[in-house]
Amino acid sequence: MRISVFGIGYVGSVSAACSAQQGHSVVAVDSDESKVTAINAGVAPIVEAGLSALIAEQVSENRLTATVKARNAILETDVSYICVGTPSLETDDISLKQITHVCTEIGEALRSKNEHHTIITRSTMLPGSMENVVIRLIEKHSGLTAGTDFGVGIYPEFLREGQAIFDFTHPSTIVAGCLDDQTKEILRSLTSQYDCEKHYIDIRTAEMVKYCANAWHASKISFANEIGWLCKKLEIDGHKVLDVMCSETRLNMSRHYMRPGFAFGGSCLPKDLRALRHKARHQDISTPVLDAIMLANERQIDRAIKLITGSGNRRVGLLGLAFKAGTDDLRESPLVALAERLIGKGYEVIIYDRAVSASPSKGNSRAVDRVLPHLASILVDELDHVIDCSDTLVVGTEDEDFKNLNGQIRPEHTVVDLVRADPGLSERCNYQGICW
Ligand SMILES: NC(=O)c1ccc[n+]([C@@H]2O[C@H](COP(=O)([O-])OP(=O)(O)OC[C@H]3O[C@@H](n4cnc5c(N)ncnc54)[C@H](O)[C@@H]3O)[C@@H](O)[C@H]2O)c1
Repeated sequence: MRISVFGIGYVGSVSAACSAQQGHSVVAVDSDESKVTAINAGVAPIVEAGLSALIAEQVSENRLTATVKARNAILETDVSYICVGTPSLETDDISLKQITHVCTEIGEALRSKNEHHTIITRSTMLPGSMENVVIRLIEKHSGLTAGTDFGVGIYPEFLREGQAIFDFTHPSTIVAGCLDDQTKEILRSLTSQYDCEKHYIDIRTAEMVKYCANAWHASKISFANEIGWLCKKLEIDGHKVLDVMCSETRLNMSRHYMRPGFAFGGSCLPKDLRALRHKARHQDISTPVLDAIMLANERQIDRAIKLITGSGNRRVGLLGLAFKAGTDDLRESPLVALAERLIGKGYEVIIYDRAVSASPSKGNSRAVDRVLPHLASILVDELDHVIDCSDTLVVGTEDEDFKNLNGQIRPEHTVVDLVRADPGLSERCNYQGICW
């Protein structure tokens, strides 16, 4: 393929050199003449292991050239990668100044091009930037329509500086947001040699995945540092602790828990997080990450309350009371907190949980009577009864029965789903997912 790469900084120079190595004919474009001169002289414009040698090889084999002339690069290639910078502004927003400039140039060049062209952004941009800035500007300056007259995609780069060539050529996953089918096919072809998971998705999701990944990386680093500080103070090797913890792949290093949903609770997580913070306080170690986790958990209960009270209904049926389905463990269940706050606000609440009952025939009834007498009186044994007698239903656990409510829900029902039991209910009633 003939590829132009706009912006030859860290991402652009690696993308240009590695794409050339993969057999594409590449034109690298930068407004900074010194970077263009460097590439054409076979020298990397940035410090990156192995990059100068790769650029020298690709330039000498005529697969890679560089220019300041954006228009020529567009006319001579089929696909453009946008790799310009999106630095922080004082407001914390990102600056799209370089993006704006390059999209204007691309749009103007496309005006005089007859062949189809595809624009693929590799820069990191907040969700909505592709639609509101990139597409809008290119359409405006070209007079063409995105998705039909020219292709559009976003293919976020996940390389790490210092190992950029390896990361580019050995991605562990491909994330590609595509506006149109032709762009999807081009991205499939550009990524066909990689043996990894590939996700060809919509543009906004792809934009967000990149931010989600970087926020996650940053969270991991600060979490590990905070644990390290505490370990040092306790004369424990934090490296050993995190190494051992990371060796567990069912819960610790896995997809488990990585689903938006309701607050955590139960007999372990809140208790142990509190205890760890207490221990740190006694060592004079501040724990901003652990503190924020507790705060975020409380906020999630606030959000659920807002969704429930926002419906305007006074009769609320809570489906689930224990902290998760299949257990009668009520210790620190966030659903108990939710029920108590609703009752406190004067809502008429009834509760169903197959594992928790106030009826004397069930083994745990004494515990409920003793620990939560105010809730025991509003626990019922029939799901149908809760559904019939409530205007808002709150799905609180992943009980199989709660995933099949479709037949019983009335159009006038509001369903507040805290566990993503059935988003399909949105077609049948007023459905509110807590974070979707
Ligand atoms: N650096 C990384 O490790 C990394 C990794 C993944 C994603 N990203 C993202 O990729 C993007 C680029 O990052 P970077 O670190 O390579 O940036 P950079 O600042 O190193 O490079 C940007 C380049 O774009 C050039 N440029 C600016 N305006 C131009 C224009 N109108 N026409 C042509 N060239 C122009 C600049 O001269 C510069 O060479 C950013 O959005 C960044 O967030 C960076």
